[in-house]
Amino acid sequence: MTTPPSAHHPTGADLTPDPAATQPTAEPARAVRAHSFNAAAAQYAANRPSYPPALFDAIEDLTGRPLTGSRVADIGAGTGIATALLHARGANVVAVEPGDGMAAQFRRTLPGIPVIRGTGDDLPLTDASVDLVTYAQAWHWTDPARAVPEALRVLRPGGALALWWNTDALDVPWIAEAADRTGRHFGIDVSAEKRNVDHRTADPSGRLDFTRRTVRWSRRVPVDTHLANIGSHSVFLVAGAERTASFLAAEREHLLRAFPDGVVEEVYEVVLLLATTPA
Ligand SMILES: C[S@@+](CC[C@H](N)C(=O)[O-])C[C@H]1O[C@@H](n2cnc3c(N)ncnc32)[C@H](O)[C@@H]1O
Repeated sequence: MTTPPSAHHPTGADLTPDPAATQPTAEPARAVRAHSFNAAAAQYAANRPSYPPALFDAIEDLTGRPLTGSRVADIGAGTGIATALLHARGANVVAVEPGDGMAAQFRRTLPGIPVIRGTGDDLPLTDASVDLVTYAQAWHWTDPARAVPEALRVLRPGGALALWWNTDALDVPWIAEAADRTGRHFGIDVSAEKRNVDHRTADPSGRLDFTRRTVRWSRRVPVDTHLANIGSHSVFLVAGAERTASFLAAEREHLLRAFPDGVVEEVYEVVLLLATTPA
């Protein structure tokens, strides 16, 4: 991918620049990160945030078409968090997921929805077969030079490609402080996450004309859920158990000072990029 996928912090996208990505080992390191979720699929499924109804309203608004009855391919479907929501909105969804552990968890959670093994760079789908291609927190793991033409190939004329990420609401003081701590501990720039979620990064070729929407939302979860959520991000998964455990233990103390009742309010801004194809 052109822009290095990221390390991530408390929430979203694993999109902050990875210093290692400028080194010769960048591609192997990136591949390790892209597959790091597989060993933590149950943790991921149980603790990662979902996506708000307003996101799917925005998709319907921008495509001008209800999700009900739409043929949707959800790529990088993981454990099926977005797939389940698309299905609940009445879409006919097929999921695509490269990872063993994530696909196995998907099948346990959503036994009635098909999941095909594959990547966004080489979609296992036929030409002009779907109305909508979605990537929830997954586009940054693709190579856009391959994933853009592949999305265009499988979309029918007048279809749409929707990419979205839950990003941290860094204007919330406790979240900004946690992001700073994460950045210092892991040597990453968490605030770059949002800067990297834009149309130029998503499609350096400029073939797609993205519209951007943001949807703010929050959830209140026990501190242990929050810690397990952040611990399921790739930067934590590849950092080594000791380094991650020491960070999470210190983080627990910080969080219990900010939230003495043990319930954390996570605040997200979902960034949606949606491009329609010529009819
Ligand atoms: C952060 S998870 C997102 C999962 C799910 N879409 C969600 O919203 O929870 C990223 C997913 O992208 C998958 N992935 C990694 N490389 C990929 C690629 N080249 N194309 C598509 N998906 C990929 C990973 O296996 C993982 O399941």
